[in-house]
Amino acid sequence: MTEARLPFNLSPESPIGIFDSGVGGLSVWREIARQLPHESTLYVADQGHVPYGIRSLAEVREYAKGITRFLLAQGAKIIVVACNTASGAALRTLRDSFPGLAFVGMEPAVKPAAENTQSGVIAVIATQATFQGELFHSLVERFATGVRLETQFCPGLVDLVERGELDTPETEATLRECLNPLLQAGADHLVLGCTHYPFLAETIIRITGPNVTLVDPAPAVARQTARVLEHQSLCAPANVGTKHTFFTSGSPEVLRGLAHRLVGFEGTIQPVVWRGNDLQTIKGENDVE
Ligand code: DGL
Repeated sequence: MTEARLPFNLSPESPIGIFDSGVGGLSVWREIARQLPHESTLYVADQGHVPYGIRSLAEVREYAKGITRFLLAQGAKIIVVACNTASGAALRTLRDSFPGLAFVGMEPAVKPAAENTQSGVIAVIATQATFQGELFHSLVERFATGVRLETQFCPGLVDLVERGELDTPETEATLRECLNPLLQAGADHLVLGCTHYPFLAETIIRITGPNVTLVDPAPAVARQTARVLEHQSLCAPANVGTKHTFFTSGSPEVLRGLAHRLVGFEGTIQPVVWRGNDLQTIKGENDVE
């Protein structure tokens, strides 16, 4: 169903809206900030609901719609769904619900992995919900022809990243359990099908060794964002200063610490709260806008 027409700020100076269940989408935010240095951004981490990967697709779809309404109300000109789970569950609904607004979504990078494999075996790690979505099935049908595709979801991994445990014994053990069957199957390309996983790259490489190529779609998503903005004549001019604001439905202190550690972010972090299906900013302690 189409949402009541919301005022889109389709002006080049407006920020790019980006969201994820938590800090995973910062692996995409980092690439956007690097490739599009003149763009301002608004980033929503729905840490009150993380992890999305164990939730129903219908639930994730409602969150994605609520966050999109919020980002539009904050002035976003385009929405980047920096979350494979939300893209798989909601991208089609979002495009139907907000006609006229451009969305850039994520999908596990099965195509480049299938094109470049030498062993003929590729592996995808993602959340349980991502493997359930239609998007993943269509990717497999379209691009995994002629290769063997192995999949694993890794329970607990997103929570470990959210706790900042990138390299602890528990994280390494969780990863080993998830990756060992894939390595035994002979995979030479490992698709990181969840935006939280690039932050575990060092630990992953320690387990896989140097002969397995990790495939992270974040750089391609940033390039696609640039293409869409160009196509819509919405690229930010170089002479306007940039501003980056992060919002969280969880703890701002936790996000501040992690955002600094993961991507060097030092800007504004604002708490937001869910009221039914809507996300709202909080001004003071008990002062909801
Ligand atoms: N980072 C997300 C993804 O790309 C979501 C992970 C989660 O919340 O389970 O799938």
